Amino acid sequence: MFGLNRKTKEIIIDKIPKHIGIIMDGNGRWAKKRLKPRVFGHKAGMDALQNVTIKASELGVRVLTVYAFSTENWSRPQDEVSFIMNLPVEFFDKYVPELNRNNVRIQMIGQTNRLPKETLDALNRAIKETRGNSGLVLNFALNYGGRDEITSAVKLIAQDVLDAKLNPDDITEDLIANYLMTDNLPYLYRNPDLIIRTSGELRLSNFLPWQSAYSELYFTPVLWPDFNQDELMKAIEDYNRRHRRFGGV
Ligand code: FPP
Repeated sequence: MFGLNRKTKEIIIDKIPKHIGIIMDGNGRWAKKRLKPRVFGHKAGMDALQNVTIKASELGVRVLTVYAFSTENWSRPQDEVSFIMNLPVEFFDKYVPELNRNNVRIQMIGQTNRLPKETLDALNRAIKETRGNSGLVLNFALNYGGRDEITSAVKLIAQDVLDAKLNPDDITEDLIANYLMTDNLPYLYRNPDLIIRTSGELRLSNFLPWQSAYSELYFTPVLWPDFNQDELMKAIEDYNRRHRRFGGV
Protein backbone atom coordinates (compact mmCIF):
# COMPACT_ATOMS: atom_id res chain seq x y z
CA MET A 1 0.00 0.00 0.00
CA PHE A 2 1.32 3.45 -0.84
CA GLY A 3 1.86 5.99 1.88
CA LEU A 4 -0.56 8.16 0.03
CA ASN A 5 -3.79 7.17 -1.62
CA ARG A 6 -4.49 9.51 -4.57
CA LYS A 7 -8.27 9.14 -4.29
CA THR A 8 -8.68 9.73 -0.60
CA LYS A 9 -5.53 11.81 -0.12
CA GLU A 10 -5.00 9.69 2.96
CA ILE A 11 -1.43 9.75 4.17
CA ILE A 12 0.33 7.11 6.19
CA ILE A 13 2.70 9.23 8.19
CA ASP A 14 5.37 6.63 8.93
CA LYS A 15 5.88 6.20 5.17
CA ILE A 16 6.84 9.85 4.80
CA PRO A 17 10.60 10.31 4.29
CA LYS A 18 11.85 12.16 7.36
CA HIS A 19 14.73 13.89 5.58
CA ILE A 20 14.43 14.92 1.94
CA GLY A 21 17.33 16.44 0.01
CA ILE A 22 16.57 18.42 -3.13
CA ILE A 23 18.90 19.37 -5.98
CA MET A 24 16.90 22.25 -7.43
CA ASP A 25 18.07 22.14 -11.03
CA GLY A 26 16.78 23.61 -14.27
CA ASN A 27 16.08 27.24 -13.39
CA GLY A 28 18.21 28.51 -16.30
CA ARG A 29 16.51 26.25 -18.86
CA TRP A 30 13.07 27.18 -17.51
CA ALA A 31 13.84 30.86 -18.08
CA LYS A 32 15.37 30.24 -21.50
CA LYS A 33 12.21 28.46 -22.65
CA ARG A 34 10.37 31.68 -21.84
CA LEU A 35 13.01 33.86 -23.56
CA LYS A 36 13.87 35.42 -20.20
CA PRO A 37 17.25 35.92 -18.49
CA ARG A 38 18.46 32.99 -16.34
CA VAL A 39 17.91 34.94 -13.13
CA PHE A 40 14.17 34.98 -13.89
CA GLY A 41 14.30 31.20 -13.41
CA HIS A 42 16.04 31.54 -10.04
CA LYS A 43 13.32 33.91 -8.90
CA ALA A 44 10.61 31.45 -9.93
CA GLY A 45 12.66 28.73 -8.21
CA MET A 46 12.37 30.64 -4.97
CA ASP A 47 8.55 30.53 -5.13
CA ALA A 48 8.69 26.80 -5.88
CA LEU A 49 10.88 26.30 -2.83
CA GLN A 50 8.41 28.08 -0.56
CA ASN A 51 5.46 25.99 -1.82
CA VAL A 52 7.35 22.72 -1.49
CA THR A 53 8.56 23.64 2.01
CA ILE A 54 5.04 24.33 3.23
CA LYS A 55 3.77 21.03 1.80
CA ALA A 56 6.69 19.06 3.22
CA SER A 57 6.03 20.61 6.61
CA GLU A 58 2.32 19.69 6.46
CA LEU A 59 3.23 16.10 5.56
CA GLY A 60 5.47 15.70 8.60
CA VAL A 61 8.86 15.78 6.86
CA ARG A 62 11.41 16.73 9.52
CA VAL A 63 14.33 18.02 7.45
CA LEU A 64 14.45 19.47 3.94
CA THR A 65 18.00 20.09 2.73
CA VAL A 66 18.08 22.19 -0.43
CA TYR A 67 21.11 22.64 -2.66
CA ALA A 68 20.99 26.39 -3.32
CA PHE A 69 24.63 27.08 -4.27
CA SER A 70 27.56 24.72 -4.61
CA THR A 71 31.25 25.41 -4.10
CA GLU A 72 31.54 25.01 -7.91
CA ASN A 73 28.85 27.61 -8.72
CA TRP A 74 31.29 30.51 -8.22
CA SER A 75 32.47 29.90 -11.80
CA ARG A 76 29.16 31.22 -13.17
CA PRO A 77 29.03 34.76 -14.66
CA GLN A 78 29.56 37.35 -11.92
CA ASP A 79 26.14 38.97 -12.30
CA GLU A 80 24.37 35.60 -11.94
CA VAL A 81 26.43 34.78 -8.81
CA SER A 82 25.51 38.17 -7.33
CA PHE A 83 21.86 37.58 -8.13
CA ILE A 84 21.83 34.14 -6.50
CA MET A 85 23.65 35.52 -3.46
CA ASN A 86 20.95 38.13 -3.09
CA LEU A 87 18.17 35.51 -3.17
CA PRO A 88 18.43 34.62 0.52
CA VAL A 89 18.02 38.32 1.39
CA GLU A 90 14.84 38.46 -0.69
CA PHE A 91 13.67 34.99 0.28
CA PHE A 92 13.92 35.54 4.00
CA ASP A 93 12.37 39.03 3.88
CA LYS A 94 9.42 37.79 1.91
CA TYR A 95 8.90 34.30 3.30
CA VAL A 96 10.13 34.03 6.88
CA PRO A 97 6.81 35.25 8.38
CA GLU A 98 4.90 32.42 6.64
CA LEU A 99 7.61 29.89 7.50
CA ASN A 100 7.44 31.04 11.11
CA ARG A 101 3.65 30.54 11.15
CA ASN A 102 4.30 27.00 9.92
CA ASN A 103 6.76 26.33 12.75
CA VAL A 104 9.65 25.94 10.23
CA ARG A 105 13.18 26.36 11.50
CA ILE A 106 15.95 27.58 9.17
CA GLN A 107 19.49 26.21 9.29
CA MET A 108 22.38 26.05 6.85
CA ILE A 109 25.36 23.97 5.82
CA GLY A 110 28.31 25.22 3.76
CA GLN A 111 31.33 27.49 4.07
CA THR A 112 30.22 30.90 5.26
CA ASN A 113 33.62 32.60 4.74
CA ARG A 114 33.06 33.46 1.07
CA LEU A 115 29.45 34.60 1.36
CA PRO A 116 28.76 38.34 0.95
CA LYS A 117 28.00 40.07 4.25
CA GLU A 118 24.37 40.86 3.35
CA THR A 119 23.72 37.23 2.43
CA LEU A 120 25.20 35.98 5.67
CA ASP A 121 23.36 38.63 7.71
CA ALA A 122 20.03 37.64 6.10
CA LEU A 123 20.69 33.96 6.79
CA ASN A 124 21.72 34.56 10.38
CA ARG A 125 18.65 36.71 10.95
CA ALA A 126 16.38 33.95 9.60
CA ILE A 127 18.19 31.31 11.67
CA LYS A 128 17.80 33.43 14.79
CA GLU A 129 14.16 34.35 14.17
CA THR A 130 13.14 30.72 13.67
CA ARG A 131 15.38 29.17 16.35
CA GLY A 132 12.47 28.42 18.68
CA ASN A 133 10.45 26.52 16.04
CA SER A 134 10.09 22.78 16.49
CA GLY A 135 8.72 21.79 13.08
CA LEU A 136 10.46 21.08 9.78
CA VAL A 137 14.10 22.18 9.48
CA LEU A 138 14.69 23.96 6.17
CA ASN A 139 18.40 23.41 5.74
CA PHE A 140 20.10 25.53 3.07
CA ALA A 141 23.20 24.11 1.45
CA LEU A 142 24.85 27.36 0.46
CA ASN A 143 28.44 27.42 -0.78
CA TYR A 144 28.34 23.73 0.06
CA GLY A 145 30.40 20.95 -1.52
CA GLY A 146 30.49 17.39 -0.23
CA ARG A 147 34.19 16.80 -0.82
CA ASP A 148 34.98 20.13 0.77
CA GLU A 149 32.86 19.09 3.79
CA ILE A 150 34.73 15.78 4.12
CA THR A 151 38.12 17.52 3.67
CA SER A 152 37.27 19.96 6.48
CA ALA A 153 36.17 17.08 8.72
CA VAL A 154 39.42 15.19 8.08
CA LYS A 155 41.45 18.29 8.99
CA LEU A 156 39.52 18.76 12.24
CA ILE A 157 39.93 15.11 13.17
CA ALA A 158 43.68 15.20 12.34
CA GLN A 159 44.05 18.29 14.54
CA ASP A 160 42.24 16.58 17.43
CA VAL A 161 44.54 13.57 17.08
CA LEU A 162 47.58 15.89 17.08
CA ASP A 163 46.23 17.62 20.20
CA ALA A 164 45.82 14.19 21.81
CA LYS A 165 42.06 14.78 22.18
CA LEU A 166 41.44 11.75 19.98
CA ASN A 167 43.06 8.40 19.43
CA PRO A 168 43.07 7.01 15.83
CA ASP A 169 41.22 3.99 17.25
CA ASP A 170 38.37 6.32 18.32
CA ILE A 171 37.65 7.15 14.67
CA THR A 172 34.39 5.44 13.78
CA GLU A 173 31.67 6.22 11.24
CA ASP A 174 29.64 7.84 14.01
CA LEU A 175 32.55 10.03 15.04
CA ILE A 176 33.17 11.14 11.46
CA ALA A 177 29.46 12.06 11.15
CA ASN A 178 29.90 14.31 14.19
CA TYR A 179 32.55 16.32 12.34
CA LEU A 180 30.37 16.87 9.25
CA MET A 181 28.25 19.96 8.73
CA THR A 182 25.05 17.95 9.18
CA ASP A 183 25.92 17.35 12.84
CA ASN A 184 23.66 20.29 13.75
CA LEU A 185 20.58 18.50 12.38
CA PRO A 186 18.35 16.39 14.65
CA TYR A 187 20.46 13.27 15.30
CA LEU A 188 18.00 10.75 13.83
CA TYR A 189 17.50 12.72 10.65
CA ARG A 190 21.00 13.65 9.53
CA ASN A 191 20.96 11.43 6.45
CA PRO A 192 18.42 12.01 3.67
CA ASP A 193 15.95 9.16 3.16
CA LEU A 194 15.14 10.54 -0.26
CA ILE A 195 17.06 12.79 -2.66
CA ILE A 196 15.15 14.48 -5.47
CA ARG A 197 16.88 15.98 -8.49
CA THR A 198 14.88 17.94 -11.01
CA SER A 199 15.55 18.73 -14.69
CA GLY A 200 16.51 15.26 -15.89
CA GLU A 201 20.17 15.22 -14.83
CA LEU A 202 21.15 11.86 -13.35
CA ARG A 203 23.89 12.65 -10.85
CA LEU A 204 24.41 13.97 -7.32
CA SER A 205 26.97 16.69 -8.12
CA ASN A 206 28.82 16.66 -4.80
CA PHE A 207 25.60 16.88 -2.74
CA LEU A 208 25.86 15.10 0.63
CA PRO A 209 28.16 12.24 -0.56
CA TRP A 210 28.63 10.80 2.95
CA GLN A 211 25.04 11.24 4.07
CA SER A 212 23.50 9.84 0.86
CA ALA A 213 25.10 6.38 1.14
CA TYR A 214 21.66 4.75 1.61
CA SER A 215 19.36 7.45 0.26
CA GLU A 216 16.72 6.58 -2.28
CA LEU A 217 17.15 8.67 -5.42
CA TYR A 218 14.34 10.22 -7.42
CA PHE A 219 15.02 11.91 -10.74
CA THR A 220 12.38 13.83 -12.64
CA PRO A 221 12.54 15.76 -15.94
CA VAL A 222 10.42 18.54 -14.39
CA LEU A 223 12.40 21.81 -14.20
CA TRP A 224 12.71 23.17 -10.66
CA PRO A 225 10.40 26.22 -11.05
CA ASP A 226 7.65 23.80 -12.20
CA PHE A 227 8.19 21.42 -9.27
CA ASN A 228 5.10 21.96 -7.13
CA GLN A 229 3.24 20.30 -4.26
CA ASP A 230 1.80 17.60 -6.56
CA GLU A 231 5.28 16.78 -7.85
CA LEU A 232 6.45 16.39 -4.25
CA MET A 233 3.57 13.96 -3.63
CA LYS A 234 4.60 11.97 -6.72
CA ALA A 235 8.16 11.71 -5.44
CA ILE A 236 6.90 10.51 -2.05
CA GLU A 237 4.60 7.98 -3.70
CA ASP A 238 7.55 6.64 -5.65
CA TYR A 239 9.62 6.48 -2.44
CA ASN A 240 6.84 4.44 -0.87
CA ARG A 241 7.28 1.75 -3.50
CA ARG A 242 10.96 1.29 -2.55
CA HIS A 243 12.17 -1.37 -0.13
CA ARG A 244 14.97 0.02 1.94
CA ARG A 245 17.26 -2.70 3.16
CA PHE A 246 20.38 -0.76 4.26
CA GLY A 247 22.58 -3.59 3.01
CA GLY A 248 20.46 -6.32 4.67
CA VAL A 249 18.00 -8.67 2.97
C1 FPP B 1 20.25 25.35 -10.58
O1 FPP B 1 19.64 25.69 -11.81
C2 FPP B 1 19.85 26.33 -9.56
C3 FPP B 1 20.71 27.09 -8.81
C4 FPP B 1 22.17 27.01 -8.90
C5 FPP B 1 20.19 28.08 -7.85
C6 FPP B 1 19.13 27.53 -6.96
C7 FPP B 1 18.38 28.62 -6.30
C8 FPP B 1 17.06 28.61 -6.10
C9 FPP B 1 16.16 27.50 -6.51
C10 FPP B 1 16.38 29.73 -5.44
C11 FPP B 1 16.19 29.53 -3.96
C12 FPP B 1 17.42 29.81 -3.25
C13 FPP B 1 17.57 30.54 -2.14
C14 FPP B 1 18.93 30.68 -1.59
C15 FPP B 1 16.48 31.23 -1.45
P1 FPP B 1 20.58 26.06 -13.03
O2 FPP B 1 20.85 27.53 -13.03
O3 FPP B 1 21.81 25.20 -13.01
O4 FPP B 1 19.66 25.69 -14.25
P2 FPP B 1 20.12 25.11 -15.66
O5 FPP B 1 20.77 23.78 -15.38
O6 FPP B 1 18.85 24.99 -16.42
O7 FPP B 1 21.06 26.11 -16.24
